[in-house]
Amino acid sequence: MSVDPSRVGVIVVAAGAGERLGRGIPKALVRCAGRTLLEHALDGLLASGAAEHVRVVVPRGDTELRAILAAGPARYQRVEAVDGGASRPESVHAGLDALPDHVDIALVHDAARALTPPSVFQAVARTVAEGAAAVVPAIPVSDTIKVVEGNRVTATPDRASLRAIQTPQGFDAQTLRRAHAEQDRYGVITDDAMLVESMGIPVTVTEGDPLAFKVTMPHDLMLAEALVRQAQEVQAEAVQAGNPAQEPAEDAAK
Ligand code: CTP
Ligand code: MG
Repeated sequence: MSVDPSRVGVIVVAAGAGERLGRGIPKALVRCAGRTLLEHALDGLLASGAAEHVRVVVPRGDTELRAILAAGPARYQRVEAVDGGASRPESVHAGLDALPDHVDIALVHDAARALTPPSVFQAVARTVAEGAAAVVPAIPVSDTIKVVEGNRVTATPDRASLRAIQTPQGFDAQTLRRAHAEQDRYGVITDDAMLVESMGIPVTVTEGDPLAFKVTMPHDLMLAEALVRQAQEVQAEAVQAGNPAQEPAEDAAK
């Protein structure tokens, strides 16, 4: 089943400072193999055709990301910039307020997960359309995870029951609006699904993708660069062989 993209809005949060990356500029502006992380993030999202309404949440006062969006290709027509907040939840809230009221499926995505493949957006939107109130893409964890207090290990949860959670996270839009309205009641939150969980609403898991990793530290950026360059080489070889991969459809979500 494919979901009518006019029902779907995506909030791409790109208002973070990128402190751990250490470049002194917002992370979404950092270049990876010649293009900004924001542009890479929009490639996968727009190629998915999953959503007609895209709101990119940029740092307050930013002009550079806005300029990139304004000068972008035709497929950026459905993308609008919105001023972000001091924390990720505030930035998500700003994006949510900027989505049209008729949108009934809302996805929240980190611009920092710049190489997220189109299939993840499609699967998350589809799972919400099939009736899930909240959906998170997940991958198995490869490290052993321990609970620690101070310098003391207090527990080792069974790895088989642990998952690393990625974005896009998908929601019935009303549920997400309600969760954000009630947000002050909950303490520290690290993702939007956590808000919904604390309201007692079930959260459904779909398959994530290793390529949806978050660019956080300098070595993550090195990995992203290597992956993009490798994909470019594969594409160049295919063009030489007269067999290029299809470009993302400009009109996929119109
Ligand atoms: N984000 C945001 N608004 C904020 C903080 C974060 O929109 N006030 C976004 C980031 O742009 C990123 C996503 O949330 O796409 C995940 O955050 P993170 O990886 O922590 O990015 P930064 O906050 O930019 O990085 P750092 O914490 O190292 O400064
Ligand atoms: Mg941060």
